[in-house]
Amino acid sequence: MEKRGIKSYVIRQGRMSQAQQQAYREQKEKWSLPYEEKALDFTETFPGLDQVVLEIGFGMGDATHQIAFENRDKGYIGVEVHKPGVGKLLDQITKRELTNIRIIEHDACEVVDRMISPASLAGVHIFFPDPWPKKKHHKRRLIQEPFVTELAKRLKPGGYFYAATDWDDYADQMLEVLSANSLLENGFSGFADHQSWRPLTNFEQKGLKKSHEIHEVFFVKK
Ligand SMILES: C[S@@+](CC[C@H](N)C(=O)[O-])C[C@H]1O[C@@H](n2cnc3c(N)ncnc32)[C@H](O)[C@@H]1O
Repeated sequence: MEKRGIKSYVIRQGRMSQAQQQAYREQKEKWSLPYEEKALDFTETFPGLDQVVLEIGFGMGDATHQIAFENRDKGYIGVEVHKPGVGKLLDQITKRELTNIRIIEHDACEVVDRMISPASLAGVHIFFPDPWPKKKHHKRRLIQEPFVTELAKRLKPGGYFYAATDWDDYADQMLEVLSANSLLENGFSGFADHQSWRPLTNFEQKGLKKSHEIHEVFFVKK
C-alpha cells in the first residue's frame, strides 16, 4: 500500500480544544517519538517493560489511555495522523500520569515498515479502522495483504492481532485475510468473542447508533 502511494486515511480537519492545543504544545516532545527510518529499541523506549503493544489509528485515544492505565506493566505505542486526537491523548497521558504510552504522529504503514523490528511486539490493536465502504476505495483498507503479513512478522510468537469493526463486509474481509495468513492462527472459531477489557471507542459508539453490528477478530502468532 505504502509503495503504491495509497493512503489508508485522509487527514481530517478538526478544531482542537484549548486543552488539546496546550497538551500538544507542551507534552508532545515528552511522550511522542519522531518518525525515523530506524528501528526502535524497546528496551530504550520502555525501560523495564518487556511487552509492547502497537495500536494503529487510535482516533481520540480513549481506549488507548484506559487500556494503558489498566496495564501499567506493558508499553503502548499509539500511531495516529489526526492531530486533535494526538492532543487529546497527550492531555490524558498527563492527567492520568501515564508513563507507558508513546505516540508516533505518522502513517502507520511507514512506521511498521521502518521502526518496528521483527518478532518484537506482544500485540497489535486496530479498533474500527476507516471502513472505506465504496468498492473503488477498498484498496485503502488497512487490514489486507501485504500489510497484515508485515504486522504478523513483527509479532513475537504467541503475540496477538486484535481488531474490531462495525462494517460487515470489512469484518468478513478481516476474517478471510487473517485466516489465510500462514503466520497466524485464529484464537476463536470464526469471529472472536467480545474482549471485555476493550473500552467502547468513539467510532464504535457511532456505529452502534446506526445499529451496526460489531465484529471482532483475534489471531495469535504461531
Ligand atoms: C475510523 S477512525 C477510528 C478511531 C478509533 N480507533 C476509534 O475506534 O474511535 C480510524 C483512525 O485511524 C487513523 N488512521 C487510518 N490510517 C492510518 C495510518 N495509516 N496511520 C495512522 N493512523 C491512521 C485515522 O486518522 C482515524 O483517526
